Amino acid sequence: MNKQIVLIPGDGIGPEIIAAAQAVLTKAAAKSGIQFTFETHLAGGAAIDAYDTPLPGKTLAAVRRADAILLGAVGGPQWDQVSPEIRPEKAILGLRKELGLYANLRPVRVPAVTANYSTLKPEIVTGVDVLIVRELNGGIYYGERMEAGMVEGREQAWDTESYSRPEIERILRLACQVARKRRNKVTSVDKANVLASSRLWRKTAGQVAQEYDDVRIDHMYVDNCAMQLVLSPKQFDVVVTSNLFGDILSDEAAVLTGSIGMLPSASLGDGPGLYEPIHGSAPDIAGQGIANPIGTILSAALLMRHSFGAEAAAGQIEAAVERSLADGYRTADLYQPGLTKLSTEEMGRKILENLR
Ligand code: NAD
Ligand code: IPM
Ligand code: MN
Repeated sequence: MNKQIVLIPGDGIGPEIIAAAQAVLTKAAAKSGIQFTFETHLAGGAAIDAYDTPLPGKTLAAVRRADAILLGAVGGPQWDQVSPEIRPEKAILGLRKELGLYANLRPVRVPAVTANYSTLKPEIVTGVDVLIVRELNGGIYYGERMEAGMVEGREQAWDTESYSRPEIERILRLACQVARKRRNKVTSVDKANVLASSRLWRKTAGQVAQEYDDVRIDHMYVDNCAMQLVLSPKQFDVVVTSNLFGDILSDEAAVLTGSIGMLPSASLGDGPGLYEPIHGSAPDIAGQGIANPIGTILSAALLMRHSFGAEAAAGQIEAAVERSLADGYRTADLYQPGLTKLSTEEMGRKILENLR
């Protein structure tokens, strides 16, 4: 079986973490009898520098032909002043939209070995296993907006949040289906006490839930959810929410694992899946070789699982990560005295060695 993988390293720490993940992916594929052909393409700031556009046609054509895509991160302060239509982040938004990637799965797991990494108490985080299902093709990210301009003598700008029933139904159905393979519990998160779009979200969520009588669905306001996630995270199984709320809650959930460098994601739709860590390009540590590659390596595991049904290979990558952490190896973000501090490359190599 020969499969085409498009790599998009992007900016900042992107190239460093993608290199580590590519090596892991290559070994995992070989073990499961899949042959990968890799193609590397530009997006984000790197593409702006080369082609004056964050998402070149060549990259778009390549991802459309691909069987799966692995992305590092885009953006950085050097592109903060470019016009809004060609910001580096537009590359990610464009890829998600063009490929119809409407569901973003962000698993947050805290195995016992990592329980003392968090700033939260170990007994609060040990055993956490939450799946955040973030709607990825709608909401305020893609609503009508007006960039800052003068309106009646005052500078103004606006963005709009809008959801349609079909958009809500498809993400809720997906959340209920994945809950069936987990603990059959879905928490739908909204702001229905204030927002009209959230009231439609809540009503539709309740109706979709009736199609899944073996799944328990609760509704929670997003402000309370933000608090509950750090107060008692073990109450959650699947959390399903809008594009913006999912973005914010998943960075918050990263604290349970000790570092945002730990969290992977899978963006799924009808075409090829796109896999990326949830963090950004980390300009503050870029080029130093100290970034944590685990979020990207775990994204490679999700790629094996969701794009190729290679459950064994995915499990082996996840086990290799856990074994490396259990052996006391850490990148700087998770380092504690008495453990072994490794560079990005060394951590990648350890995980590779532990992949068996
Ligand atoms: P960020 O996630 O890049 O960094 C936040 C903090 O977490 C920083 O202190 C950083 O050093 C640390 N961090 C992030 N990833 C890490 C890793 N793998 N290992 C160790 N530490 C890590 O968020 P930001 O600083 O708000 O954004 C920087 C740029 O990245 C912005 O341009 C933003 O738009 C972009 N961004 C891109 C993506 C993406 O490409 N998917 C996601 C988020 C942010
Ligand atoms: C993420 C990022 C992106 C988002 C940005 C870079 C557009 O923060 O993937 O979480 O907001 O979706
Ligand atoms: Mn984010």
